[in-house]
Amino acid sequence: MAQAQKGICAEANLHAQYLMFNVIDDDAQVIRAKLAHILNVFEHYDEEHYEAMVSGVIAIGSSYWSELYPGLLPLELAPFPDMQCEDRNAPVTPCDIFIQIRADRADVCFAIGCEVCELLKGHVELFEEIKGFRYLDGRDLMGFVHANGNPKGMRKFDVAIVGDEDPDFRGGSYVHVQRYRSNIGSWQRLPLKQQEDIMGRSKEDNEPLSAEDIAPYAHTKRSAAEDICGKPIELLEQSMPYGDMSTKGLLFVSLANSPKPFTSMLTSMIFGDQNGNYDKLLDYTFAETGAAFFAPSLTFIKANKDL
Ligand code: HEM
Repeated sequence: MAQAQKGICAEANLHAQYLMFNVIDDDAQVIRAKLAHILNVFEHYDEEHYEAMVSGVIAIGSSYWSELYPGLLPLELAPFPDMQCEDRNAPVTPCDIFIQIRADRADVCFAIGCEVCELLKGHVELFEEIKGFRYLDGRDLMGFVHANGNPKGMRKFDVAIVGDEDPDFRGGSYVHVQRYRSNIGSWQRLPLKQQEDIMGRSKEDNEPLSAEDIAPYAHTKRSAAEDICGKPIELLEQSMPYGDMSTKGLLFVSLANSPKPFTSMLTSMIFGDQNGNYDKLLDYTFAETGAAFFAPSLTFIKANKDL
């Protein structure tokens, strides 16, 4: 039975450390062994600081996967979808290895991040590091409660984790990451009613707007994708706000048993419906990066460390 990485379906935490690496040598064997070692680091900190609820995810970039695990390819692994419509776009910025560290203590995230970097030293270049944090009562920096629509309980596992449809990659997950930067100033100048129309939810008490009241350009409307039979399709979001006094945004992280939910949602947000109703949230928040990954199961990483 393939065991998924603990961080895939873990509950939300107070802090996150996101690390993006590109591999600079061609010694895939060393990287495979080091990734297995990183799992031990996650486990060690989880045991030492059990109150911090540590979890981690190791995800391999779509363009680096075949170099790392030649001859073994997750069925649906594909590059990040390149989309552009008018001034809305989803830039593609490939990355070889994405490490997500989450815990309820910032110092523990930091300590794990340092160990990961030390382990990979000489083999990779760290080109992006972002600290995510829980903001107020689970809001994004635009002031709305976030990730409320996530699947709950056991449903999380069905949505996020590959099952029998791809037996060699059971327990894995397709991961998409985008760094969004928000124009908080112009967002805050909008009247409350307009912000709520754009989000499709009320701000204070986080109630969904009724079907009659929801605008076709609302974020929750545009991201509510359906399959060809009209059945809702879902993903698991683990996004967190990040920022400082000058730059503010959301590190969007989604996990699913296929890349399709993410691609359909993003297509609907950027291109809109047949009447041109795109997601108006994109007038206030802009994707600056975008990369696609596969997070293999724990079992896969350990079994292939000496490939
Ligand atoms: C900066 C970018 C984004 C912000 C600030 C944002 C914010 C929000 C907020 C406040 C909600 C309502 C609460 C909730 O249900 O989580 C929401 C819902 C949702 N968002 Fe986003 N989001 C962003 C990007 C995205 C992207 C890129 C996708 C997918 C490609 C996405 C997919 C969803 C989905 C599926 C829901 C649930 C819709 C429902 O209620 O059924 N979001 N988002």
